[in-house]
Amino acid sequence: MKTYNFLPVENHQVISDQLYQYVVDKTNILEVTRDVGRWTDLQVDSVLAAIPELATELAKIVDHPITLIAVLSYPPGSNIPVHLDVGLYKHRILWPVANCTGSYTKFYNQNGNKLIKKYSAVTTGAYITNEDQYPLLEMDSCELLAPAVINTQILHSVVANPAATGHRLSATFGFGKADLGGLFNNED
Ligand SMILES: [Fe+2]
Repeated sequence: MKTYNFLPVENHQVISDQLYQYVVDKTNILEVTRDVGRWTDLQVDSVLAAIPELATELAKIVDHPITLIAVLSYPPGSNIPVHLDVGLYKHRILWPVANCTGSYTKFYNQNGNKLIKKYSAVTTGAYITNEDQYPLLEMDSCELLAPAVINTQILHSVVANPAATGHRLSATFGFGKADLGGLFNNED
């Protein structure tokens, strides 16, 4: 089963830099996440007014307007525990914004562990994690060096780069009820 796939976006670094600038200039995300990581929704219209290339590039990939833009900000050294995403999206587009080098989204085989519903300050709202009864079997890992689509229904975690000195920032996008499963077919 494919866990993630990089997306064919040219010049993604230019947009990453603009997203970073947006976070610094227009939000207090770095301040709010100084000690603990979290997910922050941004105003879609405001982001797209500042970074029109983002809509242009994503329109080449997904045939639906962007309905959600969020930033995941984690201070240096913070890992995201093993979980499954809960919510609308079975697949999620992740876009590196800053300090993603050397940190890995890891995917695991459930290996007989039961799932339990939990609430966490680190992720937004409900998520499901395993009981850690049996050792998890790592299936795959992704260093987010380019925009990618991930399967959120496979257990995953983020293991931060221990040498990072700045916040790990990534962005994620929603497209209404559009199915992103087809993005796994874009082999590159
Ligand atoms: Fe997740």
